[in-house]
Amino acid sequence: MAHQLLKGKKGIIFGALDERSIAWKTALAVVAEGGEIVLTNAPIALRMGKINELAKLCNAQVIPADATSTADLDNLMQKSMEILGGKVDFILHSIGMSPNVRKNIPYTETNYDNFLKTIDISALSLHRVLQSAMKADAINEWGSVLALSYIAAQRTFPGYNDMADTKALLESVARSFGYYYGQSKKVRINTISQSPTMTTAGSGVSGFDVFYHYAEKTSPLGNASAEDCANYCVMFFSDYTRMVTMQNLFHDGGFSSTGVSRQIVEDLQKANS
Ligand SMILES: NC(=O)c1ccc[n+]([C@@H]2O[C@H](COP(=O)([O-])OP(=O)(O)OC[C@H]3O[C@@H](n4cnc5c(N)ncnc54)[C@H](O)[C@@H]3O)[C@@H](O)[C@H]2O)c1
Repeated sequence: MAHQLLKGKKGIIFGALDERSIAWKTALAVVAEGGEIVLTNAPIALRMGKINELAKLCNAQVIPADATSTADLDNLMQKSMEILGGKVDFILHSIGMSPNVRKNIPYTETNYDNFLKTIDISALSLHRVLQSAMKADAINEWGSVLALSYIAAQRTFPGYNDMADTKALLESVARSFGYYYGQSKKVRINTISQSPTMTTAGSGVSGFDVFYHYAEKTSPLGNASAEDCANYCVMFFSDYTRMVTMQNLFHDGGFSSTGVSRQIVEDLQKANS
């Protein structure tokens, strides 16, 4: 359904690890809509993932950057502007990792060094990206920055662990930085709160299958797929959303507004009969 919504626009996409990644689908959708991109990921992900395959499909260059390193991000901003021939119009922050989740350490017994790493990688990195971009004056006026969040920022989902607190911070950074970047350069900053999605980061969360099926049965429209999310990102990079900023946008098939669905009630009735 390409409409060339992003013709003439340029941007940076963080976080495409493999073909299941939300960033991977978004890169393809952005290019199909006429956008030009630079791809980036942590050096280790470049070695282990498949980003070079995506780069070929998107006719894009790949620049390594650890999102916890200001030096890497400053370099990324400069190189991206060189490659793309000027400032960018959009940035996708699609980054998440929790060592506590990876090591299955329960929330109540958290390892605080790990917790700080989770925050650094998954939330402060948005602040760092924005600070590097602002310093380099790398984003055109009316540019758009998106980061991906999850409803565990507002409500408790056992197993989502320290990522829940970290997503709350991520959403707050989008609001706080959104004020300053909006005022100075008309740059808008939003988070998209996405349905559970079968990706490497998603399926690392304990009980993820249950979250996925529960959300699928609760949401009147069902779960939003990674492809749906990619299309939503395209709209938020386009000029059709110029006046939306500092928002957390639920992209979840109606999950966040539903108490309980008929299907869940029927399932529980069956289980209890
Ligand atoms: N999958 C879901 O259910 C779901 C739901 C809501 C939100 N999200 C969010 O979507 C985003 C993308 O995740 P995904 O589901 O596509 O999984 P994914 O595993 O494909 O992507 C996560 C990315 O983060 C990158 N990353 C990790 N540490 C990094 C670092 N130090 N520097 C730079 N990049 C780093 C990884 O290399 C990877 O590419 C994350 O923020 C995630 O929390 C996912």
